[in-house]
Amino acid sequence: MCGIVGYIGANEKKEFLLNGLKELEYRGYDSAGIAVLKDGNISAFKATGKLDNLKNKTENFNSIGFGLGIGHTRWATHGKPTEINAHPHQGEYSYVIHNGIIENYKEIKEELQKDGIKFLSQTDTEVIVHQFEKYINSGLSAQDAFTKTIAMLQGAYAILLITKDQPDTIFFAKNAVPLIVGKNSENDKFFASSDSPLIGYANEVVYLEDGEYGWLSKEELCLCKEDVCINPSFKPLGKDKIYAQKEGYRFFMEKEIYEQSVVVSETLMGRVNDENIELDELKDIDFDNIEAIKICACGTSYHAALTSAYLFERISKIRCEVEIASEFRYKEPLLDKKTLFIVISQSGETADTLETLKMAKKAGMKTLAICNVDNSSIVRLADATLLTRAGIEKGVASTKAFATQIITLWLFVLFLGRKKGTINSDKMQSEIKAILHIPSVLHVKDNIHEKLKRLSKRYLHGHGFFFIGRDIFFPLALEGALKLKEISYLHAEGYPAGEMKHGPIALADSELFTVALMPRTILYDKTKSNVEELSARDATILAISPEEFELADDFIKTSKQDHPMGEFFEMMIITQLLALEISIRLGNDVDMPRNLAKSVTVE
Ligand code: M6R
Repeated sequence: MCGIVGYIGANEKKEFLLNGLKELEYRGYDSAGIAVLKDGNISAFKATGKLDNLKNKTENFNSIGFGLGIGHTRWATHGKPTEINAHPHQGEYSYVIHNGIIENYKEIKEELQKDGIKFLSQTDTEVIVHQFEKYINSGLSAQDAFTKTIAMLQGAYAILLITKDQPDTIFFAKNAVPLIVGKNSENDKFFASSDSPLIGYANEVVYLEDGEYGWLSKEELCLCKEDVCINPSFKPLGKDKIYAQKEGYRFFMEKEIYEQSVVVSETLMGRVNDENIELDELKDIDFDNIEAIKICACGTSYHAALTSAYLFERISKIRCEVEIASEFRYKEPLLDKKTLFIVISQSGETADTLETLKMAKKAGMKTLAICNVDNSSIVRLADATLLTRAGIEKGVASTKAFATQIITLWLFVLFLGRKKGTINSDKMQSEIKAILHIPSVLHVKDNIHEKLKRLSKRYLHGHGFFFIGRDIFFPLALEGALKLKEISYLHAEGYPAGEMKHGPIALADSELFTVALMPRTILYDKTKSNVEELSARDATILAISPEEFELADDFIKTSKQDHPMGEFFEMMIITQLLALEISIRLGNDVDMPRNLAKSVTVE
């Protein structure tokens, strides 16, 4: 989703701005822009499409010497992805960039229009700059004008504003959308909406909290909340956040699929010993009163949650319910303090998931985040966090984050079962053996990848895909279908195999492709019957199983695993590679699929 960068200093401003936006590119965007204030003048550039278009436009622009710069990648929410709607938005002498949504922009806009102010764009953002200038024109200082403008805004925002009225200062505000202030030893100052643009530039950072706003110059950071000044506390920026590079793979998604074995080993590192699961992060949490679990998440993280619900109930015998965050937040849920509230999020910034966490905290529930991004909003809010340790995931279609989420949840299932006394030591031993085996299951086999490359050419048309499975293979079916539709734009649905005859089977014909997940360790015969029913209606079957299946049109043979989770992860890789290869054959941009964003910071 939208990305923000800002810079104060004497170096070439467009370099940090464009490099920073490049780092945020993977989040998804449809236009970009920068504005630089130097020697009392503001130069602004905008372009639709890829960042290269903006780069071309700024080719002959230089800005060495003290000045300010702000930059933005936009993922359209209000108004089409046009150059006019791209940020920065301008007033008479100020420019603003904004991530999020201003919910009450219509009322503010109407009032401004009554004063004769003309709007250029269709965005909600533009009201900010006009309202700010209206206050300045009425005689307020830039600081007071900004404070009053921010006080009017309802919704989610990370805002940077520059103005000729105060040419050494960037004004900023943050609410429900991330914003970071950074500085380096030369006292250059930076802003970014996540860590990655700051790496290599800043060495100390402040992660702003909701409701904070202020102004930053070369000399000072003035940080406020509810009209009160706060002492900013800078802390070192982690040096271990390496830039993700493709390293010879065709796409980041492909690289991330291949990385899964390594990152899952990272997830397990230091958390499993011979006899037990050690989760130091949870040592201060008292689980004695916890009688049930509620999990909220979106998209792929929701599928990880669904998978874990089977494990919580089956292995640790604790009741577990899973809900889609965007539904949960408006259903007026009954929240019980004896229920542990878990949120799962790769980015840690998903607006709906974050909101459910706030609701749970307000209700006094114990909260746990399963997250990939340290210092993200969700991590900072939850009582405790288990980091999934997948490393930066750049492909919009999540792969390694999903694998590590499930491993983290499985570890927690075992940890909790042990604490509650519902897992005996024999069971613990066999589960530990199984979980430690997963990194080897996750090595991508050349022959399987080659086969999928060849098979993919038969699956580029048709009127849809069914992914079917039972038990934990049902959420895997949902995830397989989501992966395929995200990057191939083909219609795909995941179903419990047993649901077919309750309606979906009406669609079966030779142009309906069924991807059948047929593990040996769970309900093989039942799934097989469901697939036979589809085959009898002439559906084209791609079966994935360790058992030969004579009715399959195409067959991917998996290895004989002893534990269902071993089969789960082997089949997960196959569904990920299938989606990847179909998307590549269709000529799509695998890493940045249309209409999608990596971090969904608006509801
Ligand atoms: O960052 P989160 O895990 O909270 O994101 C949730 C979904 O937006 C995300 O999983 C989305 O479905 C991915 N594009 C899946 O590939």
